[in-house]
Amino acid sequence: MKPVELKKDIFWVGAIDWAVRDFHGYETPRGTTYNNYLIMDEEVTLIDTVKYDFSDITINHIKSLVDPEKIKHVVINHIENDHATSLDKIMAVAPNATIHITGRGKKGLDKFFDTSKWKMNLVKTGDTLKIGKNTLLFLETPMIHWPDSMMTFCQEAGVLFSQDGFGQHLASSARFDDEFSTIVSADVLDDAVIDYYANILMPFGQLILEKIADLQKLGINPEIIAPDHGIIWRAKPQKVIESYLEMANGKADLRAIIVYDTMWKSTEMMSVPISEGIMSEGVDCRILKLRATPMNVVIKEFWKARGTLFGTPTLNNIMYPSMAECLTHLRGLRPKNRLAGAFGSYGWGGGAVKEAYEIFEKMGLEKFEPGLQVIYKPSSEDEEKCYQFGKAFALRLKEYQARF
Ligand code: FEO
Repeated sequence: MKPVELKKDIFWVGAIDWAVRDFHGYETPRGTTYNNYLIMDEEVTLIDTVKYDFSDITINHIKSLVDPEKIKHVVINHIENDHATSLDKIMAVAPNATIHITGRGKKGLDKFFDTSKWKMNLVKTGDTLKIGKNTLLFLETPMIHWPDSMMTFCQEAGVLFSQDGFGQHLASSARFDDEFSTIVSADVLDDAVIDYYANILMPFGQLILEKIADLQKLGINPEIIAPDHGIIWRAKPQKVIESYLEMANGKADLRAIIVYDTMWKSTEMMSVPISEGIMSEGVDCRILKLRATPMNVVIKEFWKARGTLFGTPTLNNIMYPSMAECLTHLRGLRPKNRLAGAFGSYGWGGGAVKEAYEIFEKMGLEKFEPGLQVIYKPSSEDEEKCYQFGKAFALRLKEYQARF
């Protein structure tokens, strides 16, 4: 793929990673892209780099537009490996460039490279850099999602280089939202935004609200939002901002998710009458078996729904290991305003359901209590209890949803 012009003299010079399926543990069935951008102004400026393996691709893209020695500025919005590990290769061909980065970014970069050999300029929110016709305005966005993170706004062109923010893991021949919606679908794009937010940005909702307010205070009203992953927003940049505002405010659908694992199918057998009880109250329900579903999909579906029931057998008096893994992921993501309950089968002493509620308590989730346990295999009487458990959960969920 060649460089793609997103606004006059501003080019995408990134790389498409069609093959990646495991992005630091995050399953990426559609691959991803590492986006970086070249501004061909009087002082040529590169915004971000790419993952190391794709260094030659971006360097060749740059060379097709300009001699890299003419690059005067390199802006590093985020130092995570997928965006900054090719920096030394870039600086080898662009030795005249000054790197613009936050103070925390520089500290982090020092752990990866000997930065003493490069010209470095530390920037903070509100600082600007005139590069010719265009002016770059920097906005620190610490913990969205690393301490070093920032965004860069090209004022005259109206382009916001938003690093991971507003990104998605999608490899495609389309570079823009309108193209992707035609080639694939707008729904797939919307879903990829939610998937990315749920798995990467869920803990930072309050900060996201504050930073979107800062964008407005600084007069940043982007015509184009150019993230470091996936599709560039040029047709509907406001749409993705609104979507972030909704998610940061804890938007969830009136739906119940049943996430379960099972040893000898008893817990699985419980999930069916529970789902029937939920649906009897007119509440949508989806069942996800943990070992059959990628973790990022479980996290996304949990995030989209207002309530989740976790089904876990007891193994050695504690939760089933896959459920412990799932709740560890969710605990780290610090979800808010979600209703949770637990059920499961046990043979001897039990313990898994109790442990699940202890974790809900630590996570600050709204608890639907008591949980439901059956011994060994559910009897027809147990199945009726499961049905009633699901029904009661749905009633509580409707009540809870009305609070938002
Ligand atoms: Fe795409 Fe936080 O790196």
